[in-house]
Amino acid sequence: MSDTALQFGNRELVLVSNREPYVHERVDGEIQVVRPTGGLTSALDPMMASTGGTWVAWGSGDGDDEMSDEDGCVRVPPESPSYDLKRVSLTDEQVQNYYYGYSNQVLWPMCHSDTAKMTPKPEFWEHYRETNEHFADAIREQVDPSEAVIWFQDYHFALAPRRIREECPDAFCMQFWHIPWPSWDVLQSCPEYEELLDGLLANDLLGFHTDRYCENFLDCVERAFDTEVDHEAGWVRYEGRTIQVESFPLGIDAAERRQLAGSTEADDAWESLRETYALDADRLAVGVDRLDYTKGIEQRLAALERLWEKYPERRETFTYVQKASESRSQIDDYQRVKENVTSEVERINDRFGTATWQPIVYIDDHLSPAALAALYRESDMVLVSSLRDGMNLVAKEFVASQVDDPGVLVLSELVGAHEALGEWAITVHPNDTEAFADSIEEALEMDESERANRMEPLRASVEENDIEAWKNSVLQSASKVLSRKETTAQRDTTGTTTEYTNE
Ligand code: F6P
Repeated sequence: MSDTALQFGNRELVLVSNREPYVHERVDGEIQVVRPTGGLTSALDPMMASTGGTWVAWGSGDGDDEMSDEDGCVRVPPESPSYDLKRVSLTDEQVQNYYYGYSNQVLWPMCHSDTAKMTPKPEFWEHYRETNEHFADAIREQVDPSEAVIWFQDYHFALAPRRIREECPDAFCMQFWHIPWPSWDVLQSCPEYEELLDGLLANDLLGFHTDRYCENFLDCVERAFDTEVDHEAGWVRYEGRTIQVESFPLGIDAAERRQLAGSTEADDAWESLRETYALDADRLAVGVDRLDYTKGIEQRLAALERLWEKYPERRETFTYVQKASESRSQIDDYQRVKENVTSEVERINDRFGTATWQPIVYIDDHLSPAALAALYRESDMVLVSSLRDGMNLVAKEFVASQVDDPGVLVLSELVGAHEALGEWAITVHPNDTEAFADSIEEALEMDESERANRMEPLRASVEENDIEAWKNSVLQSASKVLSRKETTAQRDTTGTTTEYTNE
């Protein structure tokens, strides 16, 4: 019997995300299966493969329709099918306004507390609402919500739970918000804040990465509505229902990363990387990011420039490798990050580079998982300098890949991962360039025993709080909330009332 059958009785698990785990793309007339690089889909696909059920997502591939049945469904994973992927077709106008518009030019900057980048436009909101309804209707076409556990992922679906609840009051809905939840002052800058909160409160269980984001959310609810909120136990009473709000720090498949980093495949990948990019310096640092303004890449480059200025002995001996992936590039702010980062890399390389040494190696080619594992393993440190980040899994991937001489985690205090890992990292503030440069120097000077002393607890924390632990704690909480809800419903029909506590 599958995990979900054990935990949810006969209810089927329906996972809903914007990105699909498998995209059918037409390449040179042939249809190929592409797996998106995003952390969300790769983390949740193994879970769906083991539990079964349905995954509902935007069918973004130009070969998707051809490979799906008349309901938009295809069995996946392609190599050993075990669950249904239901693709939701979106028009170009919906993609522009719901995905590039409201999701990524209003909610994304707002949740990362960068209100100056928010561009709320009526058409963004209109399409966001309409597309959320479209997804909710697609879910209802596929399953009866009163016989399912519907698990929404992320900020693309703040309104869909409300639509489901309106149509089916008995539905069990839950949502995990993969990015930060901001403070009340920031949320208020969004004209639609009441509708957003109301949509999310149509869930039965709401998850965030950290306690801080839960606290921010509960505070926002308390200020926006005249309703009962229990900060200690983490619940809200809203429209006669109780909504549990809890933190579930997302992890990675640490064991898989560790094995990959120690594999001969990684050894071979390292040889070829070293040759291709001339990575011959004694010391290496690495950064791995989507080209997103929240990642603080420009701030990191400023700190590196200061380091080579202030500590000239680090020239010729220390190289920084920036692995960058293009992201949401139809949005001007993302184009600007790409342009700024590439021009800053060029300028810094012109300033300090010599005939035999390039200070910054910029890689925007695709790297295989083995090559990435090798790059992490061989680097003396990782630089994570986000200005705001829900969790940041790069920090965890680096730690899990330290199978040899341990490297140093240099971590911004503004990322969710700092809550659990900050104690053993070198903490930086991305905007304090001088101190950031000194921190890189400190990491370069750190002796092996201190590096090992820090890496041991980091490794233990990343391995213990891995993706499996995350999945189990979310599903266990969901199963508790569901059984409490069913008991309450039963008692209500027999006329007795129940007190809600968080045991
Ligand atoms: O961190 C939030 C997130 O939506 C992830 O879930 C995802 O992997 C990443 O951003 C990339 O986003 P997009 O789907 O817009 O490329």
